Amino acid sequence: MNVQSAVLERYSQGAKDVQPSLCCPVGYDPKLLALLPQEIVAKDYGCGDPSRYVRPGDAVLDLGSGGGKICYMAAQLVGPEGLVIGVDMNHDMLALARKYQNEMAQKLGGERVEFRKGYIQDLALDVAAMERYLAEQRRPAYVEHSLETICGEHGWCIPNFDWPLPNVWVGTSISNQPDADEKFLHLLRTKAAVRFVSIEPMLGPVDLWCARYDNPNGGKTGAVTLWPGGLDWVICGGESGPNARPMHPDWARSLRDQCQAAHVPFFFKQWGEWDGTGLLFPPEEYRVPVHDWGDGNWSLRVGKKAAGRLLDGRVWNEFPMSNHG
Ligand SMILES: C[S@@+](CC[C@H](N)C(=O)[O-])C[C@H]1O[C@@H](n2cnc3c(N)ncnc32)[C@H](O)[C@@H]1O
Repeated sequence: MNVQSAVLERYSQGAKDVQPSLCCPVGYDPKLLALLPQEIVAKDYGCGDPSRYVRPGDAVLDLGSGGGKICYMAAQLVGPEGLVIGVDMNHDMLALARKYQNEMAQKLGGERVEFRKGYIQDLALDVAAMERYLAEQRRPAYVEHSLETICGEHGWCIPNFDWPLPNVWVGTSISNQPDADEKFLHLLRTKAAVRFVSIEPMLGPVDLWCARYDNPNGGKTGAVTLWPGGLDWVICGGESGPNARPMHPDWARSLRDQCQAAHVPFFFKQWGEWDGTGLLFPPEEYRVPVHDWGDGNWSLRVGKKAAGRLLDGRVWNEFPMSNHG
């Protein structure tokens, strides 16, 4: 039996009866659980609670939505302006989630959750649409053609929306969160073998998991994350030149940690003019300008060469593989 069939079979069992061996202990917000049908709470196979990232108005994509618990929790947080889409490959899990859609819509005061059949590893493919399409086709010649047709006509998934060009790397340069919010959707909709972002000069913290964008389909705002198939490479660096501004060491650290968590290669290019590694001596003993961040961190204007490119004592020289080629 291959892995996909084994996972399908296991979760189909889980949709029918509670499977204690599939359950992990997760502390959910009881206020969000209170609205949920008991069957969904009981068939809880989640292994984490991402609801703290959800904000009013978000469009949330839950990959592997199972019985829909996280979707129905998120639906309470996104509010009437938001949207939640659960994707799962398992028919029985989708049926469980959909069983309570009307009931939940009534409790929430509107339809804001939908469930789609799809494989996480191939988000451009609307599997339900493909199944319908193939069922309607009688000639095998249509089968090969059908995948592109369906992706083009029915899919609106951002990563892998279109077939990539295998030799093209596309990147964008940003400095802070508003920049990320403005540019990420465009980057992620661009077909390329590698999509990268250069955060240089870094002038503020950047949360790659929660960059926001306008949803062209619904006029809503949403969250772009470091999904597999989203960003392939993150470059970070401080500012150079006479008017260079310092980069807080925690901004670079947080970016590195986000990349590590998402298995996205991280390249730390340089500190720029200001060294962010902190003070060894009292500030008055330095002959260079010292920037006090007011939170126990200090940056020294030592010049680009001396500042170098070590982050937490090591060089970060990670490079991407060509994921979409
Ligand atoms: C651990 S459960 C998560 C359930 C849900 N997020 C929750 O918190 O209750 C994993 C779900 O992911 C689905 N799944 C696993 N691999 C998948 C894949 N490659 N594509 C789509 N769905 C997948 C399974 O069918 C299952 O319903």
